[in-house]
Amino acid sequence: MTEELKIDGPTQARPEDAHAQGVLSREAARPDGPLKVSGRAAYAAEYLPEGAAHGVLVRAPGRGKVRLANRAEVEAMQGVLCVLHDDRMVRNAAQGTANEAPVQGVEWAEYVGQPVALVVAETPEQASHAAARLRVEAGGSKGAVTPGEGEVTDEDVTTSETGDFEAAMREGAQTLDATYTTPSHVSAAMEPHAAIAEWKDGCLTLHSALQMLKFNRNEIADCVGVDPGNVRVLAPYVGGGFGSKLGISAEAVAAALAARDLGRPVRVVQTRRQVFEVNTRRSETRQRIRLAADRDGRLTGLGHDALASNLPGEDFAEPVLQASHFSYAAPNRRLRQSAERLFRPASGSVRAPGEAVGVTMFEIAMDELAESCGIDPVEFRLRNIPETDPERDVPFSSHMLAECLTEGSHRFGWADRPAATRQRQEGEWWIGTGMAAAFRVNLLMEAEARVRLSPEGVVVETDMTDIGTGTYSILTQIAAERLGHPPDRCEVRLGDTDFPPGSGAGGSVGAASTGTAVWLACTEIRRQLAEAMGCSEADLTLKDGRATCGNRSLDIAEVIGDGPLEGHGHLQPGKALKKVRQSTFGAHFAEVAVSDVTGEVRVRRLAGTYAAGRILNPRTARSQCHGGLTWGIGMALTEALEHDRRDGHAVNRDFAEYHLPVNADVPDLDVEFVEERDDWAGPMQAKGIGELSICGSGAAIINAIHHACGVRVRDLPATPDRVLAGLA
Ligand code: MOS
Repeated sequence: MTEELKIDGPTQARPEDAHAQGVLSREAARPDGPLKVSGRAAYAAEYLPEGAAHGVLVRAPGRGKVRLANRAEVEAMQGVLCVLHDDRMVRNAAQGTANEAPVQGVEWAEYVGQPVALVVAETPEQASHAAARLRVEAGGSKGAVTPGEGEVTDEDVTTSETGDFEAAMREGAQTLDATYTTPSHVSAAMEPHAAIAEWKDGCLTLHSALQMLKFNRNEIADCVGVDPGNVRVLAPYVGGGFGSKLGISAEAVAAALAARDLGRPVRVVQTRRQVFEVNTRRSETRQRIRLAADRDGRLTGLGHDALASNLPGEDFAEPVLQASHFSYAAPNRRLRQSAERLFRPASGSVRAPGEAVGVTMFEIAMDELAESCGIDPVEFRLRNIPETDPERDVPFSSHMLAECLTEGSHRFGWADRPAATRQRQEGEWWIGTGMAAAFRVNLLMEAEARVRLSPEGVVVETDMTDIGTGTYSILTQIAAERLGHPPDRCEVRLGDTDFPPGSGAGGSVGAASTGTAVWLACTEIRRQLAEAMGCSEADLTLKDGRATCGNRSLDIAEVIGDGPLEGHGHLQPGKALKKVRQSTFGAHFAEVAVSDVTGEVRVRRLAGTYAAGRILNPRTARSQCHGGLTWGIGMALTEALEHDRRDGHAVNRDFAEYHLPVNADVPDLDVEFVEERDDWAGPMQAKGIGELSICGSGAAIINAIHHACGVRVRDLPATPDRVLAGLA
């Protein structure tokens, strides 16, 4: 039996509060933790079926028509089984959504580094040796690779206008007109992209490192030309994705095609360099931000004009303005987004697509305008919180920015801050503090799950993935809570398309969406138990394996009787987001030290106060926020994928040259959650937390640099050379 739910309106009931097991919203360890730390959790590349051959991707050295110059020679090399050069291979990673199919083709290379062949051999060594010998000729075709030089067509520009923005800019008591830039970023997940393909009776089994299995199965089926019903994708453990594994990448299709040709399993693992180049990057952005405020520091004009890039043929454009539409009140607004066509590696979703760079740069602009208005930056934001959605005539489902700002500044000790810049010095170090708000749109996505209750315990099944976020923990807690079992008697099985399709892990939707599907499946089982007990579901108390109803109390195993009870949950988003604006909110605070001698910036303190509805597990939620804050440090200070100016290829394509913050760069991070229930987020009243803390944390650091030493950085990252240039 399926319990269906469409979220069309608010849910005011708080049924979860009545549950007796008491495991939801508590700190809970990961059930998969011991497997991971002891190396027993098998990641994609660790599956090696009997008789597997090994493939290595070979890539184009230039842009243009592709020719393999010495294919026969390579095919004759020791151990080589085939050189696959098949136009069904994919050009770059897909986006992992229902309506964006991957772009295929190897006859023409659209960017330097595009995979155009797969060399398959008996051993990985033979395959990489032969792949290194394969001579690919491609090049000669010119194309813009530098931002500002690419083609922008009308259909790649979207504008929205409210009121009279230009008049607001002319008449503002204080105005700002500044241009900011961010560089390309990569997801840089630790686990490399990998695929092991095996065919049996016309059916493909693919072990791969992916985030959205129900879409990934369709993408693969479409690329190799089989029915999706004949494809099974498995990804029970994924070592980070951050968007780069939302859709299938080159190795998956290549492995599937080669395995079918050869009649044996084929394993393809991307090298670290390939991970940096053939998946998707976050586009560089150029953002012109114009703001006008009246004498009281209330925004009268808000303009955000963003430019991002992608390859021709790609639909994705970094949604830079996503939060600018609702973050602050201003009666006169102009938002404009353009996408230019550049022949760099494809761009796509990287953790918090849109807000990560959009909110961050907007929050720097807000700091600049607060300063020229002579208003404290926290107060400036408090004054500009909208009553309702400033562009659509709908209310917010809940709005917690003021609470986050107030509680966060109290916790950080913001009140002690001198208003002026360059007030504190310790030896060569200038010390300063800065803050920024956080916004991230909230979504629910369709999700299904199946739950079985037997005398042995509870089993949850969905194709949902856990990309390191804590899905195993949270789904365990939900099932345990709803069915009155201790967590160690609940088993969660994920990452297999043979299970009901969950939401997938992306866009911070996983815990709330797939969690609600599990919740619904449990509702269905609770109803069956209640019927057997002769009471209503609402009157049923389940705790520690016992069912209680009025003055009757039985072992759940007795109530179940013979067969296991089964429930199926199906969540659909519904019309809720047409009726309300829904977001998560937060406030970031940073203290930095800036060397007057070298321009080096050290982050001394970094704190975030967040509201994201009900927090299902504070430990895994906090861990997500630690990750996002660390990304904020990287975005502010070190991370930039550099492109060669001649041909656009990625230059710093490894962990030595693409600088991620490591332990020595990260201070103790302070994360707190503001108690919130969002009635429009379904029966759990929980929203997504995964990406919120990267939205603006980098701005708190940039604003702190300015407060410390007076240097305003508008081009990220704030590397020592840029800071030093300002100090001089
Ligand atoms: Mo996320 S960038 O939607 O995996």
